[in-house]
Amino acid sequence: MISKRSIERVIETAKVEEVISNFVNLKRRGVNLIGLCPFHDEKTPSFTVSPAKNIYKCFGCGKGGNAVNFVMEHEGYSYIEAIKFLAQMYHIELEEIEMTGEQKEAEAKRDSLFIINEWAKKRFSNNLFNTQQGVNIGLAYFKERGFRESIIKKFDLGFASADSKDLFNAAKREGYNIDFLKELGLVSEREMDFFRNRVMFTIHNLTGKAIGFAGRIMGNNPKLPKYINSPESDIYNKRKILYGLYFAKNEIRKQEHCILVEGYTDVLSLVQSGIENVVASSGTSLTTDQIRLIKRYTNTIKILYDGDAAGINAALRGMDMILAENMVVKLVILPEKHDPDSYIKEVGPAEFINYIAENEKDFILFKTNLLLEEASSDPVKKAYILKDIVGTLSKVPDPLIRAMYVKECSNLLDVDEKILNSEINKIIKKEIRERNQRKIRNEKVDSSMEVVDKQDKLIADTQTFLKQSDEYQEKEVIRVLMEKGHAFYDETQGLLIVDFILMEVLDLLDYFDNPIYKKIIKFVKDIRDRGAVPDRNDYFNAEEDIREKYFELIMTPYEYADWQRKGMELQTQKHPDKNQFNEANQAIWRLKYKKLNKLIKYNQENIIKNSDNSEQYNTLIKLHMKLLNERKNLANLLNIVIQ
Ligand code: CTP
Ligand code: MN
Repeated sequence: MISKRSIERVIETAKVEEVISNFVNLKRRGVNLIGLCPFHDEKTPSFTVSPAKNIYKCFGCGKGGNAVNFVMEHEGYSYIEAIKFLAQMYHIELEEIEMTGEQKEAEAKRDSLFIINEWAKKRFSNNLFNTQQGVNIGLAYFKERGFRESIIKKFDLGFASADSKDLFNAAKREGYNIDFLKELGLVSEREMDFFRNRVMFTIHNLTGKAIGFAGRIMGNNPKLPKYINSPESDIYNKRKILYGLYFAKNEIRKQEHCILVEGYTDVLSLVQSGIENVVASSGTSLTTDQIRLIKRYTNTIKILYDGDAAGINAALRGMDMILAENMVVKLVILPEKHDPDSYIKEVGPAEFINYIAENEKDFILFKTNLLLEEASSDPVKKAYILKDIVGTLSKVPDPLIRAMYVKECSNLLDVDEKILNSEINKIIKKEIRERNQRKIRNEKVDSSMEVVDKQDKLIADTQTFLKQSDEYQEKEVIRVLMEKGHAFYDETQGLLIVDFILMEVLDLLDYFDNPIYKKIIKFVKDIRDRGAVPDRNDYFNAEEDIREKYFELIMTPYEYADWQRKGMELQTQKHPDKNQFNEANQAIWRLKYKKLNKLIKYNQENIIKNSDNSEQYNTLIKLHMKLLNERKNLANLLNIVIQ
């Protein structure tokens, strides 16, 4: 472990402006230096470095800290890695001290895992170049695919022997801990090599260390998987890794965009042809962590996917997620039967680059077109598409770019721009509202006065909320019922959302304010009583008022009750599609909370009226206590203040 003293020395020595200048172009302004923030997209600099205070702060995105924080954030380093980086930069020798037994063990284990992977990597590489099998099978394969020695060495490619105990025996001979080899997935429980007779791809982390491997089968046997990959381990989390990023990161920054492909060999081919800003998702759908990795270096992703249906679907998946990270997404679909590797080999780098330039489509327009093709003339489907596209459009942060999309989508979808804009605005407003609430919650309150102020406001808001009609809460319950009714509320119990909601609201039906919602519940209950699960066709074929309500509700997705606008605390929302359980709960709780207040009031009036009749009076008082208790429970669930 590094001693505290030497960590302190590093922190004292590191000058924030010197460290940041390695990564950001800084200009002097007064006592400070300013530049374009590397953590968010901006055109006018709001990233400020104060040499006097030895800190940085971005007034655009709020990120700030000292030199260590900067290196951690910017390079994706852990604390210790950042300290080591700075120590190297300032030529400070780090003093090692004893760790506790437990720390030592964990640290020693990680170190061992890295060491073993490094050893395996070298062995695979040595197999490839210096054994007969490796040269004849592995190297011959790579050469036939057109990979030159320089790229093979750069990416640490190798070969796993066909001998089922080659790696195991070598490890044993050289005294490596076999349990660790098992944990890394290099050998099986039965002590056989996991990778056999396969060409090997090393997977590197951001600092270039080998954290895992992929092995490609020789020849093709459709019964066996083409690639097998290391399992997750203490040092390998595949959701947080992009293949090739270690080699691509500088070029991504320079080119100001990242090319995303699917396969290992796609990365190799492109890099070999001089296109170096490329990473692979390795065949799985992108995760938010991976997107954020890319975002450290650029805001633009160009996705190059195969021209088949699977490729297109992979490209569409998770796209809103990328937009939500404030990134620009371009899509290039390659000619049919091609992947980037085969295509660049067929046409050469110049033509390949040309193809990208001519065929890159903006993601949103691509998606709109594709959905339209699928839906052809089905009006119900079209309503869904509209909702889908509106959701996507609302993720585009820049209003000018968004306006351009709205125009084009309105043409494509044959929907008035005004309608699109108003739907988008609803979503955006809601998101801003939620962001503000999160901010309020996260803000550190400096003075007790402020706390008092906020509580007063909350109580005032609660009172206004109670005076309002229950329209919003009823509507939200019905929206969830119609939109998510078929989904599971509790999968293990086989309970659907529709069952949960019916169960909860049937008792409250007499207290509903809006007759149409009552009617819908009865309508749904009839269908459910017949054993069917109501779906969109039922609503589409229902009486006009039900049908209209259905469209109104699915076209105004995720609109929350009015009182959320007033800064009341609510549970944070997850993505609506994945959140039917919470959505259903919240909708029901809020409705019940409102109805309960009415009941309490009604009951209180009764108590006063019956003050002479002691028996009746006692029953009503008991009921009153019960209702108050239930309200308290609900308030707890909803996290609001009752005065
Ligand atoms: N993949 C995987 N396991 C499999 C199949 C695929 O992990 N059984 C991942 C690999 O990262 C692979 C990517 O998905 O690179 C794309 O798969 P595919 O297009 O089938 O392979 P290619 O990369 O084109 O490989 P090759 O060119 O060698 O056929
Ligand atoms: Mn391929």
